[in-house]
Amino acid sequence: MPVAEDLTAPTRERTLNPLLDGLGRSARAHEHRLLSAARPALPYLNWLGMLARPIMKVPGLGWITSDPLTARAVLNDPDHFTLLSEGGVGHLWAQILGDWVYDLFDGPGHYDLRTRSRELFTERTSATFVEHAWGGRLDSARTAFEAGEPIDLADLSRILVGQMVVTLLGLPVEASRGDAAYREIFETGEELASIALGTTADTVLPPEKIATARAIVERLTGHIDAVFATASGDTIIGRCRDLGLSITETKGLSTLLMVAGTETAASAMARMAALLYDSGEQHRLIENPKLRENAVREALRVTSPAPLIGRSVLADLEIGGRTLRAGERIMVLTWTANNLAGEYRVDRPYIPQNRQLWFGAGRHLCLGGPLARAELDAVLGMLVGDGRPFRIVSRRYGRKVLIPAYASLVVQKA
Ligand code: HEM
Repeated sequence: MPVAEDLTAPTRERTLNPLLDGLGRSARAHEHRLLSAARPALPYLNWLGMLARPIMKVPGLGWITSDPLTARAVLNDPDHFTLLSEGGVGHLWAQILGDWVYDLFDGPGHYDLRTRSRELFTERTSATFVEHAWGGRLDSARTAFEAGEPIDLADLSRILVGQMVVTLLGLPVEASRGDAAYREIFETGEELASIALGTTADTVLPPEKIATARAIVERLTGHIDAVFATASGDTIIGRCRDLGLSITETKGLSTLLMVAGTETAASAMARMAALLYDSGEQHRLIENPKLRENAVREALRVTSPAPLIGRSVLADLEIGGRTLRAGERIMVLTWTANNLAGEYRVDRPYIPQNRQLWFGAGRHLCLGGPLARAELDAVLGMLVGDGRPFRIVSRRYGRKVLIPAYASLVVQKA
């Protein structure tokens, strides 16, 4: 559970971490504390990661890299790296969902699935999903916010993301329960993710965790059998069917969306607001609203909500002058790789070498990237769309959470 504390005062502490120096120091310090609260080892790993250029071996942990080119070389090489053997996230999923995962998540079936789901989230369909899922709720939040009411953006993000899941999966919910129903959906996704991704050290799950995870998956995707044939094209189920995916593929993909696209997106929304305020960059954005797309890209880069990506080595290879052996593990430190490029700046141009490493790379590149961007753009519209700045009234970091995130971030028009 998150612990309440007043962290709004500008920080004065000195730090040995060069990632925290320079302009935007308050923004960096808050991000640093947020990472520590989530997983105390994370800032140390990120700090160690600065030495991992191009690649370094850490006893007990395996290989780490924070070099964008090496990172992409790893993520683009399915002949030598996999996420399916022990140490990879696919191995966890196979225990929960069944052996078909080996084909669909990383085997030939994965290529086929990705080819056919390429059009699932385009810029256009994503904007439509956001409008469809959030329209009314976001409008009412914006009206209240612009009228001067404080809003807990971390809570609102969880509600919005829950609402997105309900829309995408066509999940039956009791509309009369309002926000509570959507918070609950978010928490369900959070629970599943904590089981399915919650360990970087050992990927063999105990039977009781497998049973809990299976019950959650059934709750989230059990309805798909009945609605598959008739689901509207507005839902992911209908779109998957129209794109030629089978029921099994649709269920697998829906589960993945739930896990991959909930906490990450909610984390980025509130952290983007904090960065804009802490760095003072919201004023530059208000002066030049054309920088909105940049502001979103920068928020994704600096927050990198999935701070590391794990893989297992399938076959011996040389990379960055080192020899990696089959069976070893490697972690791509995306947060470090992305943050070494500098602090949050709304006018920072696209960084070709990093590309969009916050979404991974290669065959597993985030499927929901356009949706995440559309979601962040909509939240940005709520925050500064009226041309007036906002302030942070209070904040709490989420403690012991898988994806670093604010437990609470209360914002108000300045
Ligand atoms: C800020 C938000 C997000 C971030 C930072 C993010 C990050 C990532 C990363 C790093 C991966 C690659 C994992 C790996 O290679 O092991 C990934 C995969 C994936 N993401 Fe996202 N994601 C975000 C939002 C979303 C959303 C909104 C959705 C959809 C609703 C989504 C769906 C997926 C799926 C389905 C995959 C698996 C793709 C595959 O294995 O082929 N993500 N995401």
